Amino acid sequence: MRKCAIFDLKILPMIRILFVCLGNICRSPMAEGMFLHLAAEAGIAGHFRVDSAGTGGWHEGEKADRRMRATAQSHGVELVSRARKVRSEDFQDFDYIIPMDRSNYQDLRAVGQNILSEMIMMRHFDPQAPEADVPDPYMGDQEDFEEVYQILERSNRNFLAFLREKHHI
Ligand code: 4NP
Repeated sequence: MRKCAIFDLKILPMIRILFVCLGNICRSPMAEGMFLHLAAEAGIAGHFRVDSAGTGGWHEGEKADRRMRATAQSHGVELVSRARKVRSEDFQDFDYIIPMDRSNYQDLRAVGQNILSEMIMMRHFDPQAPEADVPDPYMGDQEDFEEVYQILERSNRNFLAFLREKHHI
């Protein structure tokens, strides 16, 4: 008896995640790059579609901030995203929307119509400070960018573990 190949197909659940900050050049591109880096390291990047966006559109089309890219690169993480503003379809197109701070969260709630995505604050997954915001490093110095990197590494390790358990990956 021949087996029909179609019955052996495994359908991968594709989980769609959008990281959001204000300008989409510092924190959310770093969160996006970090998440992809960790998922690739675990060999499960194919389960995810990951993007980032800003509640403001001043930097649309730009690469991530040079200081954020340099910090990421010093840890072996590549940031390749281009900035864009959050759009109304995002609230239906992504399973998870992950704001970096409370003001991003409030801005998203204010503009989002028919929000189907689950919105969870990034630092909800940081065991060191689950109530805190990811601080905006834009006006800061190199140390502030390094701190953002460390926060996002910790938080994304736990976020990925949460998703793996919830979605059986
Ligand atoms: P981000 O940082 O929200 O982490 O990308 C900022 C980048 C740019 C500005 C503010 C915050 N800005 O005012 O241009």
